[in-house]
Amino acid sequence: MRRKVIIDCDPGIDDSLALMLALSMDEMEIAGITVVCGNCPTSMGTANAKKVLAYMNRLDIPVFAGEERPLKREYADALDTHGRDGLGESFLSEVQGYDQDMGAVEFLSEILRKETCAVIALGPMTNLARLYMTDPEAFGRIEEIVSMGGNFNSRGNCSPVAEYNYWADPDAAAMVYKAAGELGKEISMVGLDVTRKIVLTPDLLAYMKRLNPEIGAFVEKITGFYFDFHWQQEHLIGCVINDPLAVAYFADRSVCRGFRAYTQVETAGVCAGQTVVDFTPESREGLGGGQGTAALAAVNFYGKKANSVILTDVDREKFFRIFFSGILDKDEESLDLISALTGGIKG
Ligand code: BDR
Ligand code: CA
Repeated sequence: MRRKVIIDCDPGIDDSLALMLALSMDEMEIAGITVVCGNCPTSMGTANAKKVLAYMNRLDIPVFAGEERPLKREYADALDTHGRDGLGESFLSEVQGYDQDMGAVEFLSEILRKETCAVIALGPMTNLARLYMTDPEAFGRIEEIVSMGGNFNSRGNCSPVAEYNYWADPDAAAMVYKAAGELGKEISMVGLDVTRKIVLTPDLLAYMKRLNPEIGAFVEKITGFYFDFHWQQEHLIGCVINDPLAVAYFADRSVCRGFRAYTQVETAGVCAGQTVVDFTPESREGLGGGQGTAALAAVNFYGKKANSVILTDVDREKFFRIFFSGILDKDEESLDLISALTGGIKG
């Protein structure tokens, strides 16, 4: 089934790969792209989204600039990870025009009042929190939120316990999770537990270039800086491409597995941005697969109904099949080397 979706993002190298993947998928129709301050300032992220759309010949999709600073804390970009232009210092040409006369939060409010849409959130949750603050009714009409962010068992990437998107605006993430709980909704948390296992290695990149030299070269151009960053920071040969996994999971639930739980986000102090997941071994076992319907409230600490699906396991091979076939425009069956090339990656 083709579903309408809004992609809320901060492009960003991996956000750009996620946009490319989403644009290739029959499972979704992108109603708009909303940009939030995160990896780069909002104006740069908006320009980058347009650059990616221009490259993909899809400037018909509107891009809306959103919030320019987090709800309460000071803005901290991630240009050290994504390069001075936010796109791996590829310095692609600017796209003139295609400006919208409304901001991201206004767009979200307007479209959700007309129709229900899902949101794939690939950056800090500031736009979504502002929507909740200004138009809770429209927020309540979001069909589903799939969020790249947070971490359960994996260590953080901004502090020992926090992942960047939730760390950058912990108040927004906390508000959105709380609101989801109150509305009886569940956020799919595609966090570092699963995304750290999605490493684009030099071999996989070489395979991309063999399969589709033009797109492969584009991916190489924007990820070179990311490769260097991962080597310096994590002693990893390759780069973790977090955001496309949330898009793949949105389209195909069998890519990740996890369990349902009540999750809160810490907003202050040394643990700011940490996802506090209320689980017990029983709740994890009873709800394996992420789609479980068993009653959770009976077994967890706070006795609250789940407001999240915490993804903990990923089928790396399946992800790369979806990713390659989508952005390289190939049949999944023809990707004969994927299995061998995704076998031994450190997770
Ligand atoms: C997340 O933070 C950003 O750097 C990436 O784009 C991703 O959304 C990973 O922690
Ligand atoms: Ca992102």
